Amino acid sequence: MNTPIPAEDERLFAYPQDRSCPWQPSPGYRGLGEQGPLHRVRLWDGKSIWMVTGHAQARRLLADPRMSADRSRDDFPAVLPRLDAPIFKPIAIIGFDPPVHDIHRRLLAPDFSLKQVRALRASVEELAGRLVDELLRKGPPAELVEDYALPIPSMVISELLGVPYDDHAFFEAMTNGLLQAKSAQDAEAAGQALWDYLDGLITTKEREPGGAGVLSRLVGQVDEDGDLTREDLVRIALALLIGGHDTTSQMIALGVVTLMEHPDQLAALRADPGVLPAAVDELLRMVSVTDVSGVRVATEDIEIDGHVIRAGEGVLVSSSMTNRDPAVFSDPYRFDIRRAGGHNAASGRHHLTFGFGIHQCLGQNLARMELEVAFSVLFDRIPDLRLAVPLDRLPTRGGGTMQGVHTLPVEW
Ligand code: HEM
Repeated sequence: MNTPIPAEDERLFAYPQDRSCPWQPSPGYRGLGEQGPLHRVRLWDGKSIWMVTGHAQARRLLADPRMSADRSRDDFPAVLPRLDAPIFKPIAIIGFDPPVHDIHRRLLAPDFSLKQVRALRASVEELAGRLVDELLRKGPPAELVEDYALPIPSMVISELLGVPYDDHAFFEAMTNGLLQAKSAQDAEAAGQALWDYLDGLITTKEREPGGAGVLSRLVGQVDEDGDLTREDLVRIALALLIGGHDTTSQMIALGVVTLMEHPDQLAALRADPGVLPAAVDELLRMVSVTDVSGVRVATEDIEIDGHVIRAGEGVLVSSSMTNRDPAVFSDPYRFDIRRAGGHNAASGRHHLTFGFGIHQCLGQNLARMELEVAFSVLFDRIPDLRLAVPLDRLPTRGGGTMQGVHTLPVEW
C-alpha cells in the first residue's frame, strides 16, 4: 500500500508521463527537475511517493540502509498497476534486502564478471554479424527490433542461463505480456506462465545434472534449509531471464534511433572506434531506458535537503532526470559521445542508468558489451542506415516507466 494522499495533494504531478522524444525525458519531468531535487508525485492509485531528480540526493538515498527494496512489504509502492501482481512480491535479488540479497548476489556474481563477459564477446560479435548478414540478404526495409535488437540479448541470456533459445518466441511474448500489462491480473497470468516454464526447465536440469549454464550450476547448490531454496532458484531464473533481455533490446533500439538522428555524432563514432565505450555510456545516460534507477520504501524517518521522508513513504529515483542534473552534467540535454565521466561510479559523475548502491545492475558489464557490439557491427556493416518512418510516427511504448519501441522500421 502506498501512503494515503491528503486531499490538498490531489493536484500533485502525476507519475509516470510519456516521452515525446525517444532519448529525452517527458517534458513534464524536465519542469519538475528545474524546481529542485525532491518532489511529491501522485501514482495511478492516487497515492503519493517521493520522486528524486537530484543526482547527489539519489546517490545518498540509494546507498542508505534505511531504504528498503523489499517488494513484499505492505508499504512498498506499486508504481504501476502491473507491479501490484503477486508475482512481483518479491522479485529475486532486486526485491530483497540484506542478508538474503547479498547471499543471492554473491552466488551469481562470478557469471557476470568482466572476465566472464570478455570471454563472451567474440561469440556476440559473430552473432551480430550473422544477424546483419540476414538483414542484408532480405534487403530493405527491415524491422530492427525483431531481427536485431531483440535476438542479440535474448540469445545471449538464453545461452548464459541454459534456457533453450528454441523457446524464445514463448519467453519473449510472456516477458512482453508481463512488462506491458495494464493490470495486475494480466501481469500475473504472463508471470505465472513464465514461472511454470522455468520450474519445468529446472526439473529437467535436476534430472540431468551437469549441463551448461548458470541454472545447471545453481541446481547443484539448492538446499531447502540453506542459502538457496528451489523456489529461490525459480525466482532468480525469472529475474535474470526478464532482466537479461528486455532492457538491453530496447536500449539497442533506442540507441540506434539516437545515433541515426545525430549524424555528426555517428560520424565521430565511426571515425574513432576508440570512443565506443564512452559513446555507449552517453547513450545509456541520454536514453535512460528504464527511466528509474530504483524504487524503495523508507524504514525510518530520513532527513534530506530540508525534507523529511517519513518511515513508510515510497521513493522513486528517476534516472532520466538524475542523469540530467546540471550540477553534474553540463548542457545535460545535449547528446555528446565525447562527454567524459560515464563509466567511473566512484567519480560521482556517473550516470545512474544502472542504479547505485548494493542493487546496482548485476548485468551491467554484459549489457555494455552487448551494446558496444550491437552498435559497432550494425553501423560498420550498414553505414547508411536510416529510419523508414518519420521520428514522430515511431510506434513507441507509452504508459509505463520502461521506454521503448514496439518496432523499428529502417532502410538503407
Ligand atoms: C541496458 C540494460 C540494462 C539496464 C538499463 C538495467 C538497469 C538496472 C537498474 C536501474 C537496476 C537497479 C534497480 C534497483 O536498484 O532497484 C538493475 C538491477 C539489476 N539488473 Fe539490470 N539493467 C540492464 C541489463 C541487465 C542485464 C543484461 C541483466 C542480466 C541478467 C540484468 C540483471 C539485473 C539484476 C539481477 C539486477 C538486481 C541487482 C541487485 O539487486 O543486486 N540487468 N538493472
